[in-house]
Amino acid sequence: MKKVHIKSFGCQMNVYDGQRMADILSEQGYEETATPEGADLILLNTCHIRDRAVQKVYTELGKLRDLKVAQKANGQHTKIVVAGCVAQAEGAEIQRRQPAVDLVVGPQAYHRLPALLAEAASRRTVDTDLPIDDKFGYLPAPTPKAIRQRGISAFVTVQEGCDKFCAFCVVPYTRGAEFSRPVAQIMTEIERLAASGVQDVTLIGQNVNAYHGEGPGHGEGPGHSQGPGGAVWGLARLMQRVAEVPGIGRIRYTTSHPRDMADDLIAAHRDLPQLMPFLHLPVQAGSDRILAAMNRKHTADEYRRLIERIRAARPDIALSSDFIVGFPGESDSDFEDTLRLVDEIGFASSYSFKYSPRPGTPAADLGEQVAPEVMSERLLRLQERIEHHRQAFNHAMVGRTVEVLLERVGRHPGQLAGKTPYLQAVQIETESNQIGDRVQVVIERAGSNSLFGRKAGPDEVPRKGLAA
Ligand code: SAH
Ligand code: SF4
Ligand code: F3S
Repeated sequence: MKKVHIKSFGCQMNVYDGQRMADILSEQGYEETATPEGADLILLNTCHIRDRAVQKVYTELGKLRDLKVAQKANGQHTKIVVAGCVAQAEGAEIQRRQPAVDLVVGPQAYHRLPALLAEAASRRTVDTDLPIDDKFGYLPAPTPKAIRQRGISAFVTVQEGCDKFCAFCVVPYTRGAEFSRPVAQIMTEIERLAASGVQDVTLIGQNVNAYHGEGPGHGEGPGHSQGPGGAVWGLARLMQRVAEVPGIGRIRYTTSHPRDMADDLIAAHRDLPQLMPFLHLPVQAGSDRILAAMNRKHTADEYRRLIERIRAARPDIALSSDFIVGFPGESDSDFEDTLRLVDEIGFASSYSFKYSPRPGTPAADLGEQVAPEVMSERLLRLQERIEHHRQAFNHAMVGRTVEVLLERVGRHPGQLAGKTPYLQAVQIETESNQIGDRVQVVIERAGSNSLFGRKAGPDEVPRKGLAA
């Protein structure tokens, strides 16, 4: 067996793509290895979202060049592949900056890896074509063994690309136009995952709630409309079908755009028991002026009203968001609006970033870039508020009984770790359980990153229909 080392940066879709590339390479006789040392093929699956993510790739490539040279001295030929969003954005420029790279392959071209690797054996190769054909139709299915090794939770890409063109964001350029996989193709993949033990699926897409895939039959009513080839299914309808797959106990979806929270999707949070009460719904900023400059296409109040409707459907839902501080032109008072929104909504968790100008995006050319020290100070203040609400949310769990899906061994012997419906990590001591069990757990303590609990006694289990 030849060995391949795959390292993914960036978002969950890169994790998914990395697994699909491993599946392709496995058919070519490659076995995955956890370290680059000794690998015949080293694949960096990269992220272009912020400048720092890109710099990381070049630093890593410098180290890999040294490794390649050292392995060559021992008679081993190592190939270096750059995949993912930096590959798409920078193409052949990567090989100019780091000549040790043999192959550059974009996110919509990796189904051609076998042929590209053959070509790269004799010359440096680049393939960054954006979709001409649906790559998913060419990808081999993972083997039952590969599925089991990856655990009981899985990501499944259902939608890719983005047509929103937020002024700061590279994704529409690196992933291309919005595309939804057909329902039947997604269902085949999820049924296969479930048959090999997956219980928890997260449907992923850069703009996942814009999902509008070709479905079987001709539907009418919510979530349906007539497409060229038949019925077009929205995300809610797709999730209802996923919920019918035997073994799938938990469903989530990410990442959503506030403009695409359709009524039937909100209703699914009330009606679909397998849909977990957690929603990542990035708002980015709390000032209408900045939201407009970002081309987010909604106001802060529209976001507030949307959250009210989602909470009316599912009162205990945990919410999370992404925030950017220091977008060009952001004033102190704009930033205060963001802090106010954070305090009003009370997010269970959130990611926050300093604005990073990206080549080719409209915001990169705006004047009025915010000074770095102002950005740093704002980020600290924002993160302090986010952390306050995260801790409050976690501490409010203490004393409650929640269902935990056990996913892996815990930190200490005798412990297993899993997640609550609200996506919080929990550690429990248990001798009678194994990975894959769903157990009712009384939360006893909230640490800074995990909850700690014990198995609930029979009289501590909430009746069906009450708290999760
Ligand atoms: N599709 C998702 C997320 C895309 S990228 C969405 O629409 O929300 C993930 C997050 O990175 C974004 O939500 C945003 O907060 C952040 N981000 C994107 N571009 C950025 C940039 N140029 N500088 C800083 N943060 C950025
Ligand atoms: Fe980027 Fe905006 Fe699309 Fe999200 S919705 S991927 S932030 S352009
Ligand atoms: Fe990064 Fe590309 Fe994902 S830029 S965040 S890896 S879509």
